[in-house]
Amino acid sequence: MTADEKTSLARLLFTAGDYLRDGFHLPGEEYSFSDDEAFYPDEPVISAAVPVSADSLETVAAEIRECTGCPLHGERKNAVPGEGVARPLVLVIGEGPGADEDASGRPFVGKAGQLLDKMLASVGLSREKNCFIANMVKCRPPNNRDPLPEETAPCSRFLTRQIGLLNPKVILCLGRISAQTLLKTGASLGSLRGSFVSYHAGDTPQGAMTIPLLPTYHPSAILRDESYKRPVWEDLKLLRQMLIEKDPDYALEAGEGEA
Ligand code: URA
Repeated sequence: MTADEKTSLARLLFTAGDYLRDGFHLPGEEYSFSDDEAFYPDEPVISAAVPVSADSLETVAAEIRECTGCPLHGERKNAVPGEGVARPLVLVIGEGPGADEDASGRPFVGKAGQLLDKMLASVGLSREKNCFIANMVKCRPPNNRDPLPEETAPCSRFLTRQIGLLNPKVILCLGRISAQTLLKTGASLGSLRGSFVSYHAGDTPQGAMTIPLLPTYHPSAILRDESYKRPVWEDLKLLRQMLIEKDPDYALEAGEGEA
């Protein structure tokens, strides 16, 4: 392929990608290529033709389904990459798939998932409309135990790529393991919840990002002990308030915006 042909193809692919992702064409960079004969002898094609921004949620999901990076892959029926909208207001991060999620390949579809859907709906959110739901680890820990550091560590590269691609306005972090792992702290969830912290997702392929992150109790904690319901509702109200400040469309739907 000649340099001109490569440039035309790159423009076409990038424009199509922008339309699919955002519904409009971003002002593009110019792409510079050399002709095949001059190009192939010295450089691998991938360095010029596949820039980092060619990464996609589908690519990450496909890699997760093939991953053998920790022992959890050996027992899985299905890996659970996550699901939701591609430009979410909220990225919800749970801990790891349970039996129902392992069986279906979808996050939060069991009892805790049904409660999560109700929690989100109470503040105008859903995985169909404005959220993406993911987990710290993408394969089921046996007997629903907490994911171990040697499982969260290799899996975190997938979550980092998902965060970069999704670029959520806010992260809602469910449960102690997710909060402690993401925030790199041993502090109790009781002391972390109740306010937003700035989460520095510094090493995403899209560059450094700082995203407001709200830790709260996992819905399965509420299913075990109803007394967690009140603090979770307090946290959801904080989430709603933050989204009203950050997103005019959400604010309008919440009845707090300017028409
Ligand atoms: N609990 C989690 O943390 N994640 C799921 O996907 C399901 C239950």
